[in-house]
Amino acid sequence: MSSVDGAPAVLARVPAGMHIDGRWVAAIDGEEFESVDPATGRVIARVPRAQAADVDRAVAAARSAFDDGRWGEAVSARDRARILHRMSDLVRERRDELVEIEVLDCGKPLADARGDIDEVAFMFEYYAGWATKIAGDIPPVGSDALSLVVREPVGVCGLIVPWNYPMLMAAQKVAPALATGCTVVLKPAEQTPLTALCMAAIAEEAGLPAGVLNVVTGFGVEAGEPMLTDPRVDKISFTGSLGVGRHIQRTCADQLKRVTLELGGKSPNIVFGDAPIAEAIVGTAAGIFGNQGEVCSAGSRVFVHASVYDEVLEGMVAQASAIRLGSGLDESTTMGPLVSARQRDRVRSFVDAAPGDGARHVFTGALPESAELAEGFFVAPSVFEVPDHSPAIAREEIFGPVATVFRFEDVDEVVRQANNTEYGLAAAIWTRDINLALTTARRVRAGVVWVNDSQPAPSESLWGGYKQSGVGRELGRYALDAYLETKQIYINLGS
Ligand code: NAI
Ligand code: MG
Repeated sequence: MSSVDGAPAVLARVPAGMHIDGRWVAAIDGEEFESVDPATGRVIARVPRAQAADVDRAVAAARSAFDDGRWGEAVSARDRARILHRMSDLVRERRDELVEIEVLDCGKPLADARGDIDEVAFMFEYYAGWATKIAGDIPPVGSDALSLVVREPVGVCGLIVPWNYPMLMAAQKVAPALATGCTVVLKPAEQTPLTALCMAAIAEEAGLPAGVLNVVTGFGVEAGEPMLTDPRVDKISFTGSLGVGRHIQRTCADQLKRVTLELGGKSPNIVFGDAPIAEAIVGTAAGIFGNQGEVCSAGSRVFVHASVYDEVLEGMVAQASAIRLGSGLDESTTMGPLVSARQRDRVRSFVDAAPGDGARHVFTGALPESAELAEGFFVAPSVFEVPDHSPAIAREEIFGPVATVFRFEDVDEVVRQANNTEYGLAAAIWTRDINLALTTARRVRAGVVWVNDSQPAPSESLWGGYKQSGVGRELGRYALDAYLETKQIYINLGS
């Protein structure tokens, strides 16, 4: 990163350059791009703009690091664990500066960024534990032979991450990849490159060998795309939009590269008539307004039973009107700006089109008043009622603070409506009836179902989508499968 006049002092903590083969380097052609503070619209940093030639160097470094065994045979699983633990410790030591850098780069409120960075520290600790516990199997094949099933790292991994949880999404892929012995080229989103560079600095300080974790900063087509077609890359793991996910799956098919995709959602949030209403209102609102609605699992389709409909709708409006928009760095802010002017315009265009498209406008909150924030990318939270799925806001992933509320009468109908989407990432169900909760949870076609809660994503458990929300699973022990191959070694014991 090169510094920008007047930028906040903490940004001096972000290393200069991208991280390739253990060195901090500029792009080969010297080009840079700007990272912007979404609260003010001001440029806060310039980072190298990687092109295919830079990605080529990063992939070559990751390939040699994998092939010469410096992160494989040359280190024990215990040593890998020790380095991952050190990374976790360093994240904790630097929590405050990482939080501030994350807020400046992506806009989210401090409290949310603290949650992210704490989970990043835990993620490295959690997968440090797994490094020494990846074991195979010995299936019985008769007395004349021994069949060993062993797990091996898949190889060089291209990890492409989005801007809504920049360091957390990176850690979610990097930690299990490193635990299994893979080597990595990480490409952060162009909107939020800074904490990925900090992660590389932390890895270096923790003793990760050069070339094992490379970071290329740049745009999707320039710095991401080359990894999709490079035969030295064994695996792509991507989190982002459905359109790019489809393109990645298609492109990677040519070389049958392994692919993990975590894509979008239009997740249902179902409030039954017997729900714990106060909790349901708070949780439902947090499920769509949290992190500015820039959440793949956001509960953006709110289904409310007719018997509690008015109460829940009123409660959601009360929750939305209590939200305080402002700079993420202000402790009293509960909603920050969206990540970019483009994202703001995209969300606004959905909101503007909604009334003419069959949605009824119920509420829109207030924008921040401070002149300092006049150029920020703020979108106030809003609530719409819809009769069915015909308005675009009821169907498409908006990725902003826009709640779409449906009324329902019976269980079969709401299950059918909840499943009436190409997506299948998450769902929330609010009820005091345990049978209703569990039968509904089983009938909803989604990879994650919350009962009487919305949005928790513990790193020890599982994450991932049904249908067009993705391919493969992340988090917990399930993420390890994404970075491992499985081999049979057959030993003839007969004469
Ligand atoms: P995006 O999918 O274009 O970006 C995500 C990442 O993919 C970034 O690192 C980007 O540089 C990279 N990328 C883009 N094109 C690529 C290509 N051809 N090859 C390799 N890498 C590529 O998402 P974008 O444009 O930032 O956001 C647009 C919409 O996508 C949002 O409004 C939202 O609906 C959705 N989205 C969903 C996310 C999720 O977690 N499900 C995260 C980010 C965006
Ligand atoms: Mg930024």
